[in-house]
Amino acid sequence: MENLFYPDREEAKNARIKNSCEYEGLVADANDDYEGYWGKLAKEKISWFQEFDEVLDESDAPFYKWFKNGKLNVSYQCIDRHLETRKNKAAIIFEGELGDQKVITYRELYYEVNKTANLLKNKFGISKGDRVVIYMPMIPETAVMMLAVARIGAIHSVVFGGFSADALRDRIIDAEAKLVVTTDGAYRRGKPYLLKPVVDEALSVGCESVEKVLVVERNGEEIHWEAGRDFAYAELVQNESPICEPEVMDSEDPLFLLYTSGSTGKPKGVQHSQAGYILHAQTTMENVFDVRENDTYWCTADVGWITGHTYIVYGPLAMGATTVMFEGVPIYPDAGRWWKMIEEYQVNQFYTAPTAIRLLHKTGAEEPKKYDLSSLRVLGTVGEPINPDAWLWYYNEIGGGKCPIVDTWWQTETGGHMVSPLPFATPIKPGSATNPLPGIFAEIIDENGERMPEGEKGLLCITKPWPSMIRTIWGDPERFKKSYFGDAKKDGKPVYFSGDGAMYDENGYIIITGRTDDVINVSGHRMGTAEIEASIGNHDNVAEVAVVGKPHSVKGESVFAYIVIKSEDNLGEDVELLKEINGIIVKEIGPIAKCDEIVIVPGLPKTRSGKIMRRILRAIVKGEAITQDTSTLEDPSVVEKIQAKF
Ligand code: WTA
Repeated sequence: MENLFYPDREEAKNARIKNSCEYEGLVADANDDYEGYWGKLAKEKISWFQEFDEVLDESDAPFYKWFKNGKLNVSYQCIDRHLETRKNKAAIIFEGELGDQKVITYRELYYEVNKTANLLKNKFGISKGDRVVIYMPMIPETAVMMLAVARIGAIHSVVFGGFSADALRDRIIDAEAKLVVTTDGAYRRGKPYLLKPVVDEALSVGCESVEKVLVVERNGEEIHWEAGRDFAYAELVQNESPICEPEVMDSEDPLFLLYTSGSTGKPKGVQHSQAGYILHAQTTMENVFDVRENDTYWCTADVGWITGHTYIVYGPLAMGATTVMFEGVPIYPDAGRWWKMIEEYQVNQFYTAPTAIRLLHKTGAEEPKKYDLSSLRVLGTVGEPINPDAWLWYYNEIGGGKCPIVDTWWQTETGGHMVSPLPFATPIKPGSATNPLPGIFAEIIDENGERMPEGEKGLLCITKPWPSMIRTIWGDPERFKKSYFGDAKKDGKPVYFSGDGAMYDENGYIIITGRTDDVINVSGHRMGTAEIEASIGNHDNVAEVAVVGKPHSVKGESVFAYIVIKSEDNLGEDVELLKEINGIIVKEIGPIAKCDEIVIVPGLPKTRSGKIMRRILRAIVKGEAITQDTSTLEDPSVVEKIQAKF
């Protein structure tokens, strides 16, 4: 078809999945025998200590259990089993913000992880099931720490380094973490910044579960040391034995928690399992990025997000690939930094976010021309819909018009890719994630579970369980059920609601239209409007607030707040109020949640039962017509009064 881009036939000959027939064959296998499909993959791909005896237990749906009674260890899967054939292969290639480089082979990674695992056990008393919060920058020690925690059967919760002390504290308390691992700081935009003081502040109130803090040195800046609580990593780790037997873990034991935003103010601790998670992480690495033995793969995400977990650490290492890790920002010292790195490391697969592509297109459209990007074979995007303009620039200028772009749709909760092209088997199209992967039953349906016709918006749902799915919300199984599984059933099974709207296009491809709940997506960072509203509500002069996403040319969406103030007295300029509000947001959440614009309004549109009609507020900020009936509002005139402000 005319509007599609087809993969190069010569290149496709060497691909893992070579054409659409092979793809359709896999889809048919999964359709015919769903459990058999996943069971076969699990047997082939995982180095089991003891093989599972049942593929899928649905008796307590939606609390599904995959690969029942299987025994394994994820760090063994990611490291030990590669030692026979890949001992001297680069596991991690690291580049620091200042240009410092480090290559860690699988052999070195093995020793580092073992020593660290011993340290966690012996010095810090961490054992199976304990929670360890990792608040660290993009350095190899972060990956080492995650794998060491996994090796001893403990559960990590990585908290993104951009979160504030308050946000970090909430996550520490919710997980009842025993240990926090951090660094003195790191480098950003060429300058050192600090992380340890944030940990000190977080621990100053209410984190009774935390016994110790382990500090990895990164930039040597002066920091406070709390005697008896804080310990330096480098000094201690060298005394530990380089051999640590991996803990025997059950398929369904938790591997990690990762907090993410939902529709309410409180972040959810998304809990992932061992076997199902690592299986999907590994197989999507292989099939979606088509990574081959001698490839160098680079994902620019931060390890603090799910993309960093699955596609910088677990997926690449599980398959024995070489994964690049970069500490810094894409525009330092200039907007050519990433392209320079692609040339330097001869990167074959490059995976990034639309917001970064838009930024680099806008600030350095000519930069890619200065570098040799011919090593690239597959490009990827994730995190938000990509606009065709940015897609075409990425395709032509970065990929030289020859690299398929895999637009991967997935979520923290799905653990790995769900809807995505296979690079050499799926004709691609700007702005579409195309089809569900084999074995993934993603479908666009209406509220009653009926499939939507072409061109009509519906809800993107997953109608069968999948191995890497969220197992529960940490400490809140009821919220897990309520957040993701409504009453709708398909073939007798509860349907998983992603929270995203989508529609089928004329090719039958899936086009994601954005969230349908109160979550906004700023630069690919997922944020709950309720969390931001709670922060803004803490300003003395704010009576009521509603936050919505406003379309933004680089960030995708920006934070926009409608505010009802308590008193006009002492009210300065709007910019002053915005500054004060952002001060609170930065303290309570972090700079990523900062508000771009506010408007002071006389009231918010509410139903008679007091529910804020956000759809109206979203329409107003986008300059769209209001299609809803406003006559049933508590005060219909408020809509006009708000519109008059624009
Ligand atoms: C959005 C990130 C369009 C979507 C892996 C989803 C996307 C949310 C895409 C999850 C894509 C992710 N096209 N939208 N390719 N990928 N999204 O949990 O709204 O940080 O629900 O996981 O990002 O964000 P999360």
